[in-house]
Amino acid sequence: MFDVAEFVDEAVSALKEKITETAIIACSGGVDSSVAALLANQAVGGLLHCVYVDTGFMRKNETEEIEEMLAEMGLNLTVVKAADRFFEALEGVTEPEHKRKVIGEMFIRIFEEEQQKVGAKCLVQGTIAPDWIESGGGVRDTIKSHHNVGGLPEDMTLEVVEPLRDLYKDEVRIVARHLAISVADRQPFPGPGLAVRCLGELSPHRVEVVREACHIVEEELEASHERGEIEIPWQYFAAILPVRSVGVHGDVRAYGETVVVRAVASLDGMSARYSEIPHSVLEKISTRITNTVKGSVNRVVYDITHKPPGTIEWE
Ligand code: XMP
Repeated sequence: MFDVAEFVDEAVSALKEKITETAIIACSGGVDSSVAALLANQAVGGLLHCVYVDTGFMRKNETEEIEEMLAEMGLNLTVVKAADRFFEALEGVTEPEHKRKVIGEMFIRIFEEEQQKVGAKCLVQGTIAPDWIESGGGVRDTIKSHHNVGGLPEDMTLEVVEPLRDLYKDEVRIVARHLAISVADRQPFPGPGLAVRCLGELSPHRVEVVREACHIVEEELEASHERGEIEIPWQYFAAILPVRSVGVHGDVRAYGETVVVRAVASLDGMSARYSEIPHSVLEKISTRITNTVKGSVNRVVYDITHKPPGTIEWE
């Protein structure tokens, strides 16, 4: 049985021992990095610089909401606007592992720049067990390189500290509730963000399409849950596929993009079952997506694959 109070005490003591000089912490606004930040803040508040990178791959309104939340948590926060740098580095990159490595490396370069500004020696990250297990971790095959693990460049100069390394998502949520963190029950969102939900060539337009599609999926499933029709899935989102198909807009032929909707039930993200969503809700999602991003998306499909054999994200 997981003893949350004991975990918090031990983690704070271990962080006090490990961090004796200025440290930076990578905050994405998600539950993992927010828990890591609060623990580190409790341990060595005065030494901690919290860095949030706006990659351009965040969800609708997310950056503003996160900035507000991290400031409210009393963290010493720097926001780095880096969307142009990420898009430039990812130009022409379509292979999923390559994409993850480029993103991981860009994150580290940005953290190193911040490190130099404040003279930090280490980087605290909210890595949890599935992140390094699925990144290989010396035990299993690499399923995907999580941006905060397998994407780390070999020549990095920062020492990495990972207080949540042995926890699974359900345990992190217990710690988050214990620490009264507002995002404790927020659905997971991958570190590389919408970049891994935009299959094929990344462009600001395609990322905007998937941002809007994810927003629609969230709104419609949350509304359906409020109407008592469904349990809220563990994770629910949209991805844009590298497949175009023929459709018709008005009387005109359209050769448009394909969006896939995914919703799954899971406990810890290690395995998952696709969620059964009422057809009326799926239809509303499909209509909203094809209408909102007119001329661009003309086909919406629903993913009915469990994990395994699929993974939750498409890349
Ligand atoms: P998959 O797609 O491997 O994902 O079934 C399992 C869970 O992990 C999330 N995920 C990530 N989280 N960095 C993260 O912090 C990443 O690079 C990353 N990739 C996937 C995914 O959204 C799901 O909840």
